[in-house]
Amino acid sequence: MQLDLSAARFFLFSLMLTLCSQVTFAQRDLDEALLLASPDMIAADSALKSHMEMLATEAVSNHCAACHGANLAGQSGVPNLVDYDWLWGVSGFEMTQSEAVFEIMQTILYGVRNSECADEIKRYGACPDTRFSQMPGYGELGFSEQQLNDLVDYVYGISGDEHESAAVERVAGLTVLCAECHGDDGAGYKAFGGPDLSDDVWLFGSAREAVYDVIANGRTESCPAWSQTLNAATIKALSVYIYNQSMGY
Ligand code: HEC
Ligand code: HEC
Repeated sequence: MQLDLSAARFFLFSLMLTLCSQVTFAQRDLDEALLLASPDMIAADSALKSHMEMLATEAVSNHCAACHGANLAGQSGVPNLVDYDWLWGVSGFEMTQSEAVFEIMQTILYGVRNSECADEIKRYGACPDTRFSQMPGYGELGFSEQQLNDLVDYVYGISGDEHESAAVERVAGLTVLCAECHGDDGAGYKAFGGPDLSDDVWLFGSAREAVYDVIANGRTESCPAWSQTLNAATIKALSVYIYNQSMGY
């Protein structure tokens, strides 16, 4: 009798083990397939697509929502990830989907201005591979209040907002500085994370005081690196998910 019972227990135990390992195997197969698949292939395969969405939405609520918001629409200083407006890497429709996803993946893997690493491997105070640049504080660099104010008009001019053209003329000699990171036409430079100043998306707000404050005091917003926290399949899932959302897929 006792023997029977333990045999039954053993049977149940092995059945559970088999079921569990099948689940992990299936999970691992899907992870592997996700890593290999292009965005198109994922869209066309419903099992893969729902695996991607499951991994991504879980990671968003556990790791990204705190800053980017539950719907990833961002807040002051933290960009909206689901509009088609990128600070880093993704530069328009001439890119293939895979190239755009790769750029997003690089941001997620290594972060922006991430400084959570050993001091001896840092360069310019940031970790290797992280996206890096810095909006200078022109107040500390000795620009006068008048010049700073005039630069606000220059920015409003680029974005098509109301501005004083005499002010823009006064700072004409200085704005070549801005082109290094915001592009010659002010439409942004993705390699340096310089926002597009010509659109009406404002990372730090459009009010005169807000724009003045950015130009006078600079900014160094940062996004953590996730390569040590999240596995490869989750990072791929997040990159594809964010890309799809930004494209309205
Ligand atoms: C501590 C706050 C914080 C957390 C948590 C965070 N981010 Fe960020 N993230 C930021 C900030 C701030 C920026 C803007 C950096 C800059 O100014 O360039 C950013 C930028 C980004 C960008 C670049 C957007 C662009 O327009 O190029 C991506 C992609 C991104 N984050 C993805 C994520 C993902 C995915 C997660 C979760 C796994 C996450 N972030 C978690 C604060 C955060
Ligand atoms: C070395 C690179 C660099 C230079 C030079 C630079 N910027 Fe920036 N600028 C940035 C970056 C990067 C950001 C975003 C800051 C962040 O996310 O931390 C930014 C943000 C801004 C913003 C805020 C945009 C928004 O959407 O809220 C304004 C306005 C701005 N810069 C104006 C200027 C002006 C005017 C100049 C020239 C006088 C200038 N910048 C020069 C890199 C630069």
